[in-house]
Amino acid sequence: MRRGSTDDLVFTIPYLIHCCSTFTELAAGRAVEAETGGVGLLRNTVVQSNQEHREAGMQDLTETGITAAVLQQMADTPDPRLREIMAAAVKHLHAFAREVSLTPEEWLYGIKFMTEVGQACTPFRQEFILLSDTLGLSRMVNILHDGRAETVGTETSLLGPFYRNDSPRLRLGDSIAKEPGAASGGREIGLFGTVRDEAGVPVVDATVEVWQTDPDGAYDLQAADPTAMDWRAQFRTDEAGRYWFRATLPLGYTIPLDGPVGRMIGAQRRHGCRPAHTHFLIGAPGYRELVTAIYYGQDPYIDSDTVFGVSQSLIVEPRPDVPGSPFPALHSVRFDFTLARAAKGDETSRVGADPSTLAGSGQPAGVGAREAARGA
Ligand code: BEZ
Ligand code: FE
Repeated sequence: MRRGSTDDLVFTIPYLIHCCSTFTELAAGRAVEAETGGVGLLRNTVVQSNQEHREAGMQDLTETGITAAVLQQMADTPDPRLREIMAAAVKHLHAFAREVSLTPEEWLYGIKFMTEVGQACTPFRQEFILLSDTLGLSRMVNILHDGRAETVGTETSLLGPFYRNDSPRLRLGDSIAKEPGAASGGREIGLFGTVRDEAGVPVVDATVEVWQTDPDGAYDLQAADPTAMDWRAQFRTDEAGRYWFRATLPLGYTIPLDGPVGRMIGAQRRHGCRPAHTHFLIGAPGYRELVTAIYYGQDPYIDSDTVFGVSQSLIVEPRPDVPGSPFPALHSVRFDFTLARAAKGDETSRVGADPSTLAGSGQPAGVGAREAARGA
């Protein structure tokens, strides 16, 4: 599936801004002048247009005038994509406030909520990703991102907040659980299949990363010691592109509900459950990294996932006697994956990251502000 190139996008953005309003129309022209070196001209134009607006009474802001005024101040943002995103964000935020007639108490409640979401984040927990997931935004970004891909492989799914870099590298056939099967209180299953390209050619030596909950429905990141890894591993496909490993049937689980996102879910009377699943992240040089998951069809929440990750093509059922299973004594699942070719700027379907990489600097805002102000 061919899509428009990024060049098209770069040309489309100034056009969209041109259409937005008279103010942004002027600004788009100024940005072009700035890019072509007309900085003196740019300053004069800004001063002149500010005067014009003052004369036109633009200081008296109405509920729609405030939107135009903010857009005008931001209109000279040199980065066209930042300009487009921020202009749209302001327009939608203002429209939202107008639509619900937002009160000061509600606005402050929102500020407090977002503050608490940030405070709940640690190297082992990403409450903002959870918020994005439960609002369907992560899935939306996933869908948009896949829609721009040049070629299509296996359907993708959410990375979620429990992915970790550097999971243990195991041998094909190993169990991803430190205490497999009955020892962990669950039912051991086998998972196997082949990784192929779009032409059906096996992808040799692809990395297959997997992670899931334990039979009680908890990830290792939620354990008392979140640094210990369990129920996750990475494998390499063999010379025929095959992978196979043992796992334990995971349990569906509630997303973490002990934080601000959990309070929101409770206030909305949502069940907060995800159907049982096993995550996969599959990569090989030259291919678009595939982030997906298989979902176990018997789960009662298969049709009402709190974070909207399930697709029909990803639903599986462990069965005895699956033809070709390397695990004849176990119920098993065969799932074959197709990797799409990577394109420039589209090397992965990943939407998210290991939470420890998003933990920020840990430095409170304002530290070093004096130095920054002095230009040090
Ligand atoms: C998960 O896949 O485990 C997950 C995804 C989004 C939110 C919470 C959990
Ligand atoms: Fe998960």
